[in-house]
Amino acid sequence: MKVLLTGANGFVGSHVLDSLHAHGIATAVLLRPAANTRFIEAHLPRLEVRIGSIGDPPSLGAAMRDITHVVHCAGCTKALRVSEFEEINHVGTRHVVEAVNQQKGRIQRLVHISSLAAGGPATPDRPARENDPPNPISEYGKSKLAGEQEVRGACQPEHVILRPPAVYGPRDTAFLPLFKAVKAHLLPRFGSGRMALSLVFAKDLAEAVVTCLTHPAAAGKTFYVASPEVTTAPALAGEIAVQMKAWTLPLRLPVAALWLMCCLQEAVSRLTRKPSLLSRQKHAELRAPGWVCDPGRLRQALGFVCVNTLKSGITTTLAWYRQQGWL
Ligand SMILES: NC(=O)c1ccc[n+]([C@@H]2O[C@H](COP(=O)([O-])OP(=O)(O)OC[C@H]3O[C@@H](n4cnc5c(N)ncnc54)[C@H](OP(=O)(O)O)[C@@H]3O)[C@@H](O)[C@H]2O)c1
Repeated sequence: MKVLLTGANGFVGSHVLDSLHAHGIATAVLLRPAANTRFIEAHLPRLEVRIGSIGDPPSLGAAMRDITHVVHCAGCTKALRVSEFEEINHVGTRHVVEAVNQQKGRIQRLVHISSLAAGGPATPDRPARENDPPNPISEYGKSKLAGEQEVRGACQPEHVILRPPAVYGPRDTAFLPLFKAVKAHLLPRFGSGRMALSLVFAKDLAEAVVTCLTHPAAAGKTFYVASPEVTTAPALAGEIAVQMKAWTLPLRLPVAALWLMCCLQEAVSRLTRKPSLLSRQKHAELRAPGWVCDPGRLRQALGFVCVNTLKSGITTTLAWYRQQGWL
């Protein structure tokens, strides 16, 4: 068995690489020429690096020589132009599927990382399940769904699609502002603050990927992969505050403030040429009633459960942020 991992230097991909390595699975990684390798430095001395891009089919084909399994984790979660979501998450995935098909005699399985955003919002009383009709509400979600359809419709070897909700853990920059707000003694709450959230700790997601590479019952399936706990942003901030031993003052912000923040952040991103998670297209996701999914199918079909609780995940994340001087 030899895996090609795309997106290995990113937040999620670096955790997948850690897990592949911990399981002793031979791995090559696809990196773009100017890729920042800060999260995978420890692996580099014994890692096979294949330079290429999911936007460049010939480089993808060359990277898949001698490969038996592919984990497609490269993706675009924030963009300067909305069209980048389509280019990377949809067209890029089509290129991965085409390259896999060209080597289908050897490549046995593709594990594709999609997102809860492809399924759309859902609340705790009716969590998102794999058979629900998809209802993505952002350009990101639509592009992730289109990527899934490429995999489902065209991939000739076996495939598995994983749909994580928001991922947190060491190396994550998306939840870092919440930790920083708590450190500044603020407990931010937008609107009612009742939006329910499923989350997955990055290491749990990475272990699910490794399980899906070979488990016979995973073939051809789509799975939500999430911790069974459901939380809210204020409850999450509250747990962070307890663990940081920080006193906090509630900072209640009207929903309109969120829209303003998204517009401002988008303007700053355009000026600095650095994409940000907050943007007008993200606003729809931030206003949804909830982002909750049911990881039951993954448990029933594969016996896989996320072992990290929110409490232990925050402890590990906090320790990492502090150790790196990010907090
Ligand atoms: N983070 C979350 O909360 C979350 C939740 C659900 C699903 N996901 C999915 O998980 C995957 C990874 O997300 P992430 O949070 O780890 O994002 P990330 O840290 O931004 O990593 C994205 C990775 O994709 C690579 N990539 C982007 N465009 C590429 C291209 N054209 N060719 C080759 N590689 C390319 C990036 O390489 P460069 O460094 O060269 O740009 C990077 O390695 C994505 O598919 C995302 O949709 C993430």
